[in-house]
Amino acid sequence: SILSSKDRTAYHFQPPKNWINDPCGPMYYNGIYHEFYQYNPDGSFNPNTSLNIVWGHSVSTDLVNWITLEPALEPDTPNDIKGCWSGSATIVSGDQPVIIYTGVIDIEKHQVQNIALPKNRSDPYLREWTKASNNPVIQSGVPGLNSGQFRDPTTGWIGPDGLWRIAVGAQLNGYGAALLYKSEDFLNWTRVDHPLYSSNASIMFECLDFFAVLPGSNNGLDMSSAIPNGAKHVLKMGMNFGEDVYVIGVYDLKRDVFVPDTDDSRLWPRIDYGNFYASKTFFDSKHGRRIIWAWTTETDSSSDDVAKGWAGIHSFPRTIWLDNDGKRLLQWPVEEIESLRRNEINHQKLELKKGDLFEIKGIDTLQADVEIDFELTSIDDADPFDPSWLFDTEKHCQEADASVHGAIGPFGLVILASDNMEEHTVVHFRVYKSQKNYMILMCSDLRRSSLTPGLDTPAYGGFFELDLEKERKISLRTLIDRSAVESFGGGGRVCIMARVYPVSLVDDDHQPHMYAFNNGSATVRVPHLRAWSMRTAQVSV
Ligand code: FRU
Repeated sequence: SILSSKDRTAYHFQPPKNWINDPCGPMYYNGIYHEFYQYNPDGSFNPNTSLNIVWGHSVSTDLVNWITLEPALEPDTPNDIKGCWSGSATIVSGDQPVIIYTGVIDIEKHQVQNIALPKNRSDPYLREWTKASNNPVIQSGVPGLNSGQFRDPTTGWIGPDGLWRIAVGAQLNGYGAALLYKSEDFLNWTRVDHPLYSSNASIMFECLDFFAVLPGSNNGLDMSSAIPNGAKHVLKMGMNFGEDVYVIGVYDLKRDVFVPDTDDSRLWPRIDYGNFYASKTFFDSKHGRRIIWAWTTETDSSSDDVAKGWAGIHSFPRTIWLDNDGKRLLQWPVEEIESLRRNEINHQKLELKKGDLFEIKGIDTLQADVEIDFELTSIDDADPFDPSWLFDTEKHCQEADASVHGAIGPFGLVILASDNMEEHTVVHFRVYKSQKNYMILMCSDLRRSSLTPGLDTPAYGGFFELDLEKERKISLRTLIDRSAVESFGGGGRVCIMARVYPVSLVDDDHQPHMYAFNNGSATVRVPHLRAWSMRTAQVSV
């Protein structure tokens, strides 16, 4: 069938068919994880024109295997008749799940915010949702607010006054703003007279996310409870209609505003430097962690998507927490992913000299999980870092690609490679010396990933800082899932999600090749290399 195409992911989430975009309202409730998502019931095309998007709904007990249910929200009231757009879930008073979402009310795409409640809280899957009779609970009507750019309400949090708060992304006086609203009962909302945050870094903030993190701890914090002293806050913003950036700062409770550690938006890191947007986090009370996932688009043509019968996947759920230096978030695939691993292969004490290519054999190279530690033999000769590279990492990854020798690096993984290397994808590092520290460039270079013309094949890249004097090790983890390649550099300091469509992957009998390589002057040791084949999860039932 068309739905069993070679590109269809085996363990990255997607419903059985059709177009999806943003994850919506993720939550853990009564033993079940809920994944809602923007879903086009009419086909695998972008629903921008049909204006009939619904909230698809899938449930899971382990974040790996999913059961698809009927849509939870469909456009069937005057407050959402042209689409049920993105939103969030909040668990109020410990046991009352509430969805708040954006309704599109006309073909001009004017937007309001609505509430929905489970019809029957004792249904373990919360299949049916009832829209509140007082919808819309929030309307635009604010001077300077563009009512066509007013959406994606966040999960609620409780302030010191015991009142609920949410933020709504908006364009206010031409700039991006996180409008702030307050409520006693989560049903009746009033606007606070100032935004939580606003910035001219983007003309709009989509899919805002606001959460607290605790320095020195990888535990998640529940925003429905009091946040401990010493916590920092993170504001995640969908900027320029395609980039998820975040800024760490403090939540000033007196003024009820978010104060970023830096207002210089050029320094705001991205959650992921690849194909990853509209991400959303939630607090997982089962394991006391915060989890994030996002929408990853197809990068083939829209006619390919119609032919495939599906379009869009979600990144694998990741735990997210604050690095010890307080400057970066770290992300790592949730440990439940390990239930899919089989056929472990294990190499120790490899040495990769300049030009070496070590083939990794014995696993399914189309569905794999690979973990490698690279140990640097010397760091003294590192090439100097130029801070201007930070502002165009993709350009730098193109110019300094895997074939360009450096002092330390490039080294990394070549994956999904055809016999003659005409097709291959490279994930690699380069090490630079900056004034204070070492800067590591991580690239995921898709430019030779496929012989098919017309695909979007960038060389994604991001930098992270590492104290190599302390530990001379750089780790790489890559999840390969047919057309999805999701990589974690430096223990999750830089993440890069990507899509590739090699033509040589036509059948499972002919496996693509996978190599570890080094193309830098300095020898690199590999103390550990572990890789697994990945079973196909239940993501399409
Ligand atoms: C982001 C987004 C949201 C909106 C939704 C509509 O991808 O544009 O801002 O709510 O998608 O599907």
